[in-house]
Amino acid sequence: MLDEYRKILVTGGAGFIGSHLVDALLSLGKEVVVLDNLSTGENLSLRVKLMKGDIRDIGQVVEATKDIDLVFHVAANANGTVSVNNPQFDFETNALGTFNLLDAALQAKVKRFVYVSSASVYGIPQHFPIGEEHPTKPFIPYGASKLAGEIFCRAFFHTYKLPVVIGRPFCVYGPRENPKLALVEISRYLRWHLNHKPIQIVGDLERKTRDFVYVSDVIQGLLLIADCASVGEVFNLGSGEEISIRGLIDIISSITGRQPIINVISDITEDTYRLVGDISKIKSLGYTPSISLSDGVKHLVEELGEHPQLPKGSTIFKRDQQMRFSINFD
Ligand SMILES: NC(=O)c1ccc[n+]([C@@H]2O[C@H](COP(=O)([O-])OP(=O)(O)OC[C@H]3O[C@@H](n4cnc5c(N)ncnc54)[C@H](O)[C@@H]3O)[C@@H](O)[C@H]2O)c1
Repeated sequence: MLDEYRKILVTGGAGFIGSHLVDALLSLGKEVVVLDNLSTGENLSLRVKLMKGDIRDIGQVVEATKDIDLVFHVAANANGTVSVNNPQFDFETNALGTFNLLDAALQAKVKRFVYVSSASVYGIPQHFPIGEEHPTKPFIPYGASKLAGEIFCRAFFHTYKLPVVIGRPFCVYGPRENPKLALVEISRYLRWHLNHKPIQIVGDLERKTRDFVYVSDVIQGLLLIADCASVGEVFNLGSGEEISIRGLIDIISSITGRQPIINVISDITEDTYRLVGDISKIKSLGYTPSISLSDGVKHLVEELGEHPQLPKGSTIFKRDQQMRFSINFD
């Protein structure tokens, strides 16, 4: 696999998804360079060359891309709450940072550029399951900045023939998520539950659904699109399975054997929407999600132990932000 590529750059390689990708590349015998400012990443492998630097700085990005055959651009502000509170920071990191990587990759004549985007680009989904052709109407700055990155990827592909492919992960979970952030419901919920604290649930228990995908499956998808996807294409990276928050709580409770205490914050409704990806396109490249939700939750419970660190940040939808979401662009 990835036989054409000798030296690989992973931006954000010390983070949650990036560090699993780095491990997979090392196990394929690849030479890996990581460009990361270590702002949220805490999982740097000792077997890679770290270029501690910032993707917002074009000089550092050009330096990191020298002699690189393949770029996985993973670094980003992945935190929706931060994007709501500081949209300029989010824009500079995600949109400008991606532009810098594309520009430097073009100069370096890389053989392939894989952009890790996000299912957040779809916004509030309109039909299900969500295929890659679903309209992209992000509703928070994070989704907008990830989409801006995609739009520049397409422009660099069409204008300069930069060989770009795009992956859109859904809700990724698994070991090594930054404990303070714990962005995705599964690790947030488990961190409260394993500490015997109430699980804080934003949105409607029955109507809010998500497509949770184990991190090793996302890595499988990223390697596949780097290896054999046609350039210029975009791929959903999910499990293809839809589960309600109630269903997730039931799985957590059956695995821990403990009755969860839940606190539903029902007056915050913006997070109540269905989310499930159509993964037939990535499946056509040989992708098979291999970790079921109950197995994934089981692994994570073992990994977290009895009293894991509690999440620090709040969730995206705060009451004082609702005014900003009530604008209708249609
Ligand atoms: N976690 C998810 O569920 C999820 C879902 C969809 C898409 N994504 C995307 O996956 C990617 C990785 O997310 P993650 O969950 O691993 O987050 P993460 O915060 O663990 O990883 C991001 C990494 O990028 C680094 N970084 C941040 N800003 C940087 C900068 N300016 N310069 C250099 N390095 C910088 C961080 O230090 C960190 O190591 C992001 O692009 C995110 O948008 C994540």
